[in-house]
Amino acid sequence: MPPDFQGMCVAALDSEHAQDIEGLIKQHSGAPMVAATTLDHSLERVIRAMVAGDVDVALFTDPAQVVSLFQYASQRDGLDALRDALRQIAVGSLGPACSEALRTFGISAEFESDRMEVDDLIRGMARLSDHLVMKKRSAVDAGVDTTHWRRVDMVWPMAEDHHNIFTESPFLKACRREPTDYTPIWLMRQAGRYQREFRDLRAKVPFLALCKTPELAAEVTLMATERLGVDAAIIMSDILPILQPMGLHLEYVKGEGPVIHNPIRSGSAIDQLNEVDPDALAYVYEAIRLARRALPPVVPLIGFAGAPFTLAAYAIEGGGSRNYENTKHLMYGDPGAWHALMEKLARAVVGYLNKQIAAGVQAVQLFDSWVGCLSPDDYREFVLPHSGYIFANLTPGTPSIHFGANTATLLGLMQEAGGDVIGLDWRVDLAEAWGRLEYAVAVQGNLDPLILFASPREIRKRAQAVLRKAKGRPGHIFNLGHGILPGTPEDHVTALIDAVREYGT
Ligand code: CP3
Repeated sequence: MPPDFQGMCVAALDSEHAQDIEGLIKQHSGAPMVAATTLDHSLERVIRAMVAGDVDVALFTDPAQVVSLFQYASQRDGLDALRDALRQIAVGSLGPACSEALRTFGISAEFESDRMEVDDLIRGMARLSDHLVMKKRSAVDAGVDTTHWRRVDMVWPMAEDHHNIFTESPFLKACRREPTDYTPIWLMRQAGRYQREFRDLRAKVPFLALCKTPELAAEVTLMATERLGVDAAIIMSDILPILQPMGLHLEYVKGEGPVIHNPIRSGSAIDQLNEVDPDALAYVYEAIRLARRALPPVVPLIGFAGAPFTLAAYAIEGGGSRNYENTKHLMYGDPGAWHALMEKLARAVVGYLNKQIAAGVQAVQLFDSWVGCLSPDDYREFVLPHSGYIFANLTPGTPSIHFGANTATLLGLMQEAGGDVIGLDWRVDLAEAWGRLEYAVAVQGNLDPLILFASPREIRKRAQAVLRKAKGRPGHIFNLGHGILPGTPEDHVTALIDAVREYGT
């Protein structure tokens, strides 16, 4: 997906920089353009073009200009016609002030640039205009009101054969090790604090409340998927809320991360943990239903859970840990209690993932982020039976991804535990690791997330290097070796996605 308006007509509404914008848009394509300044004749020209249906994309860079446009239209009895025209025009906004001005006139921007800079808005809209215009027109066809809407309000008109649509998804094909036209990509933590749109929402809503409000969780899922243009969505949630119905007191503390206030430190504490009724996490299934309905039918949705070891380590340590001393103390000191805890967690995770599948996810990922602290022998004895139990009891027919970090010495055992796809972090050589797995599974990975702090030029080079290691063999899903970190520039993330699109064929 090269950043290009593909011959669309772009209207740029800006009081001062219209000429600059025209130049910038020309760099992205030879798209015809109408520019408006605050002068009446240019407003007249833009409104006329919009109402005639000649405009595909509108870019707003200045709240005052939004006001001028709507006032001009309303003074000439043209407000309804303008609003009507905007139902089918993809709207880009420079930032919250501009979007707010649009909202006061009943219009929602489909895209807000991450940096409040005109070139970021133009590149972002150039990447997405194709999708956004198609989405808005499909919405109108399906009878969805697009004047003042959120992403979660989208409902795609379903094709007759929509049951088969996923068989064409490059991501799902790669999970099954079938050949694809290009290497599919999605990114762990693709929604997160690195994005201004996420931070703006988080300023209003605590993280756990976001996860537990299905409309917000679905909106964030859709936000990341749409902004990046990735091949799969992942539902916005976290691995730890499943610990709450067990009786653990989970809190996300600002600046510190998740904390368990009553960590497990004894066998008797394990006996007292509740069995999880999967319906205790009904808010996740509802978020899945809402996100699924609003996602383009060709984009699969991934559900997920924490693996028993990583969940146990969190429940025992009560937070992040360097050496996992409490976890290993229990594991080595009281193996009976350890296995009882792991069994309880594995049962909870199976119930949870199968309900996510029933609610509409097309694949599931098991996150064992912390298991890399174990030796292969300990993995085999203390972890493999429990992670294995999960993979053996998932609803058949839904591809599964088994992810861990620091797992160079554990990959073969993780494969034995299960998963159609094995996640690789950046510490391993993709070609060597896949060879060790005898190509009997698909692999996902494995760019170092820190590369995203380097220049787009370096990012492209590194993306190419990962693709070269995979050699175009069926069954490679491009991803990072671990999640995107806060502080990562969003336009570097989109540069990676564009590079994988360009080279991964
Ligand atoms: O990938 C996605 O976009 C889906 C959502 C997702 C989140 N967490 C959202 C989140 C997923 C798949 C996870 C998995 C997760 N959560 C793991 C396994 C993967 C990994 O990164 O190792 C772990 C260990 C957790 C536990 C967790 N949740 C930690 C340690 C933290 C705090 C540190 C951090 O990165 O913020 C969280 C919070 C969390 N989970 C946030 C998000 C978007 C940030 C919340 C906020 O402050 O806004």
